[in-house]
Amino acid sequence: MSEINKKIVFSGIQPSGEPTLGNYLGALKNWVLMQDEYECFYSIVDLHSITVRQDPAALRAQIKKFMALFLAIGLDPEKCTLFCQSHVPTHAELAWILNCYTMFGELSRMTQFKDKSQKHADNINAGLFTYPSLMAADMLLYQTDVVPVGIDQKQHIELARNIAVRFNGIYGDTFKIPEGVIPKTSAKINSLADPTKKMSKSDENINSYILLLDKPDDIIRKFKRAVTDSEAIVRYSPEDKPGISNLMNIYSAVTSKTHDEIEKEFDGKGYGDFKLAVGEAVADLLKPVQSEYERIMKDKDYLEKIYSEGAQKAYYVSNKTLSKVYKKVGFIKKGF
Ligand code: TRP
Repeated sequence: MSEINKKIVFSGIQPSGEPTLGNYLGALKNWVLMQDEYECFYSIVDLHSITVRQDPAALRAQIKKFMALFLAIGLDPEKCTLFCQSHVPTHAELAWILNCYTMFGELSRMTQFKDKSQKHADNINAGLFTYPSLMAADMLLYQTDVVPVGIDQKQHIELARNIAVRFNGIYGDTFKIPEGVIPKTSAKINSLADPTKKMSKSDENINSYILLLDKPDDIIRKFKRAVTDSEAIVRYSPEDKPGISNLMNIYSAVTSKTHDEIEKEFDGKGYGDFKLAVGEAVADLLKPVQSEYERIMKDKDYLEKIYSEGAQKAYYVSNKTLSKVYKKVGFIKKGF
């Protein structure tokens, strides 16, 4: 099949914690669905992760985990390009150029910057501020058509589009203007302890999130403890039953059953039965992923081969765009 006719997809995930069920059902599962139809570039965006302080040993371990999980969930290196952002220097290089075409005012308006600078008031570094120009570089380097993201990234995509339009306006067509999509199949998974908040691996309460590598017993225990309400009816109503509705979203994402079907299935049954069913469904979903993960993690050479080849391909493709950009802004060609 010719790759030329396929639309290009870019997406990235931060390795700034252990991978969670939220990462999988909200993003990664959809990446797998897209790999057949699109030419996909999927990156572990490690450069983005150091905008908040990371423990180096933990970061190293998490990057490898994410890469092994990419493969374990079914991302196929024959179909898509899997790589670490820091292995492909064009990202940092284009980010610098784009910084010079991104306005201070624009970056100041980013809600994620405002949130994160509140959360990390002792470390409001320049990288945290210019994070969106690096993200713009990520997608613009590949002449990307489609960027699947969560709703929280919409504003960054809008900014990337504005930067690209601005650059094209000055220098002529250089970048494809990418489109952000929030995939219909991606589920928004909330915390099990506070179902009005997003499930997050940085939560202090370990019972609030499910890690992709959690053992079946732990998964079931966490679901049993999930915060619900006192009505004792399995009914979908995110406003007044956020806990049950969140569990229904998870169950629906895992089993492909609709909310109606789930309500019927648990009609007349208590929350205990429902929570156990959700826990078991998630544990069953993750079992094969975990055994595949274990297998891949034992084969370090294979893992290294995949991310090295991915980075080479990504470099080759992205460098074409970078060279164009260097020429357009007026840099001279290097003689080596
Ligand atoms: N900022 C994104 C997040 O935190 C990750 C990311 C970095 C990304 N570069 C990207 C996503 C480019 C899509 C495209 O979720």
